[in-house]
Amino acid sequence: MCGIVGYVGPRNVQDFLLEGLRRLEYRGYDSAGTAIIENHHDLLVTKSVGRIANLAQRVTGSSDDCQIGIGHTRWATHGAATLVNAHPHVGGENCLAIVHNGVIENFAELRSQLVSQGYSFVSETDTEVIAHLLSEQIRQKTGGDRSGTTYPRELGMEAIREIMPRLRGTYGLAILFKDWPETLFAVRLGSPLIIGVGDGEHFVASDASPLAGFTDQIVYLADHQIAMISEDRLQVSHRDQGPVAHDVQKMEIRSNQVELGDYEHYMLKEIFEQPESIRNTLRGRLNHDDATPVFGGLNLSPQELRKVKRIVLTACGTSWHSALVGEYLIEEIANIPVEVEYASELRYRNSPTEAETILIAITQSGETADTLAALKEMKRKGHPTLAICNVVGSSIAQEADGGVYLHAGPEIGVASTKAYTSQCIALTLLALYLGRLRHVSYETGRQMIDQINQLPEAVEKALQTNRQVAEIARKYHACDNFLYLGRHYNFPTALEGALKLKEISYVHAEGYPSAEMKHGPIALVDLNTPSVFVMPTGFIYEKVMSNLEEIKARGGPVIAIAAQGDQRVADVADDVIYVPPTAEFLQPIVTVIPLQLLSYHIALMRGCDVDKPRNLAKSVTVE
Ligand code: G6P
Repeated sequence: MCGIVGYVGPRNVQDFLLEGLRRLEYRGYDSAGTAIIENHHDLLVTKSVGRIANLAQRVTGSSDDCQIGIGHTRWATHGAATLVNAHPHVGGENCLAIVHNGVIENFAELRSQLVSQGYSFVSETDTEVIAHLLSEQIRQKTGGDRSGTTYPRELGMEAIREIMPRLRGTYGLAILFKDWPETLFAVRLGSPLIIGVGDGEHFVASDASPLAGFTDQIVYLADHQIAMISEDRLQVSHRDQGPVAHDVQKMEIRSNQVELGDYEHYMLKEIFEQPESIRNTLRGRLNHDDATPVFGGLNLSPQELRKVKRIVLTACGTSWHSALVGEYLIEEIANIPVEVEYASELRYRNSPTEAETILIAITQSGETADTLAALKEMKRKGHPTLAICNVVGSSIAQEADGGVYLHAGPEIGVASTKAYTSQCIALTLLALYLGRLRHVSYETGRQMIDQINQLPEAVEKALQTNRQVAEIARKYHACDNFLYLGRHYNFPTALEGALKLKEISYVHAEGYPSAEMKHGPIALVDLNTPSVFVMPTGFIYEKVMSNLEEIKARGGPVIAIAAQGDQRVADVADDVIYVPPTAEFLQPIVTVIPLQLLSYHIALMRGCDVDKPRNLAKSVTVE
């Protein structure tokens, strides 16, 4: 959460900053701001509350004599979404400007120290503490002399290095000092920051999306590293080790991947990209001859994996739902016991874990603070860790011992869609791989691979329900309560359908195992509370049908997601959305499609901002 950009070079600085912030807006949109240095000494800060569009109206454009700037889009943690709390924040006597992603846990203590030293604060943020701490450090090093030119820029780097041990928490920072108008500073601990390397220019960003179309050469800044960046030079130092070499890597992301194209919203674009994103997750990973999936980056040998006695899957939000799908898959197919843990709980629980336990963290962004912390904790306990992750080079991908990249392409809509289905397919492959290391026969493996290969086509067909789903949404969009019910593989789908609706249309929805609904939620059922049953044909179908009848008997409207050819359900449900029949282990990936579309259309009809739902951020980098 919170997005950071920075630029030094010959382009129009404000234009780049605004474009970069637009692309990072999914990380937060409570307020935004930029700081630039004009005429080599004028530090100009512009801020606005709300979306980047508001900021764009205030920014006047940078003059030819401006080569450097930083920008920020905020998801509020400390202090309300007001103008004074918006970043950038300036340090003592306007000598520096700073943008921050992360949380400084000891900010209150630092703040009172600084107040006793004579600093006054205008905001309630933890970030302003860093700004003043840094200006105080500079003041001490220069004896208060702010003429600047007599001091080398290394002094700025040194001051940053010196304040780092005093900051407890997480930070990705981009900093401009008025005295060194040609140098941009960046530093990170626990929050992502990357540097784009161009021809006579450099970029800084929280993730790769702002750089697409500008440069494909990137450097991932690691924890405790400080970068000193000018137009034509990048120097990286480690807090304790001094200067360190940096690797320039080629970025995968293309600019058309982060553009809307003909779609009205990123969410809809990403829903419709799913046949392709699933193909990308599958690409090169199915070995027909050996009837097994193959992975390049698990970094655990078949011998090591055969010894695994338990798998802990950890994640947050939608990724937690794919972990639940993974639990059913791995236990059914590979016969290995699985625990699914909320990352935020796992970190602080002291549950006994056998030695032969591996941890798999599931995350779209690879930056979720709780998931990262849970992975680190399990790693510290000596368990091998894997990450199933979409963003290449992200913090979790780097921290894990090995893993599986989704290759689903950038996901911009705050509500996760294509990353979810790619996570489910990655877990399916993993379950089959583990199964084939144990008891799954060659013949069964071949059959399952054939079924997996047909999945993108089934998802294409499921997307054809879009128009019908929109009509159903019209019928029910004014309802304020929904139940989502499913069993076995489709219980996580019910949870995910309910979460999608809550996230983007602010409608109360509960996901439940359909039989469990009798133990509470059935009390909610009335004429205005639709129940969405996820009930494709399978071994549990009859039981779910009984649950459906129980709802109907109490007058509740029912929308059923069923398999093509199921005539029976049409006699009892009020509305039926048919999806192609698929093998049971693949059903969650197909049945979730109409649920994604349903939430999209209901949110639109209720006038909600689909891509940027209130209070949410795509990447939650605070605990
Ligand atoms: C936030 C997002 C969700 C996402 C969750 C986990 O809450 O709004 O869409 O599922 O974080 O994110 P991750 O990147 O770890 O999958």
